[in-house]
Amino acid sequence: MKTLKNLFLDELADMYDAERRIVKALPKMAKAATCPDLKAALQSHLKETEGHVRKLEQVFQSFGEKARGQTCEATVGLLEEGDEIAADFKGSPALNAGLISAAQKVEHYEMASYGCLHEWAGLLGNQKAASLLEQILDEEKSANEKLTELARAGNNEEALGEEEPSSTDRLAPKRSAKSRSPGVMGRNRTGSLSR
Ligand SMILES: [Fe+2]
Ligand SMILES: [Fe+2]
Repeated sequence: MKTLKNLFLDELADMYDAERRIVKALPKMAKAATCPDLKAALQSHLKETEGHVRKLEQVFQSFGEKARGQTCEATVGLLEEGDEIAADFKGSPALNAGLISAAQKVEHYEMASYGCLHEWAGLLGNQKAASLLEQILDEEKSANEKLTELARAGNNEEALGEEEPSSTDRLAPKRSAKSRSPGVMGRNRTGSLSR
């Protein structure tokens, strides 16, 4: 009979595979990004992600198991979508906003996975594993928050491109980007994920 421990170890193997794929994908995403702050954020999360691989090896060890990976189809798909955005939006003002959204989908998948793994490690009575998984979860959350900040700091707005101003904008006196109409800001805000 398969139990929570089997489920835990299977999911752990899934994330071990996922993290190693993300280690390969992040440099490509950083290279594709044209916003210097986004490049830096992706490179800095690469360092953390390399640490996640090592932490997962320690989690396996803490259960007396050898680290193993099993293909994480969800991550394969999410990273493929990121590649598509990088190719389809190359040279577009929406490139960085697209890369941020692709990266945030990966972070959210990781947050859901580590949230469960952390809970399960606690239930299985392995405090060392629970603590390592919580450390990873916290870094995924911070990475996601940083991406939200970068989207709001101008990347989403830049993605609007040289759109025709709305009829109300045309009548109104010229305003700076910071004081745009609530409609434009509202659309911009909903374009990125909240915490
Ligand atoms: Fe990670
Ligand atoms: Fe991550």
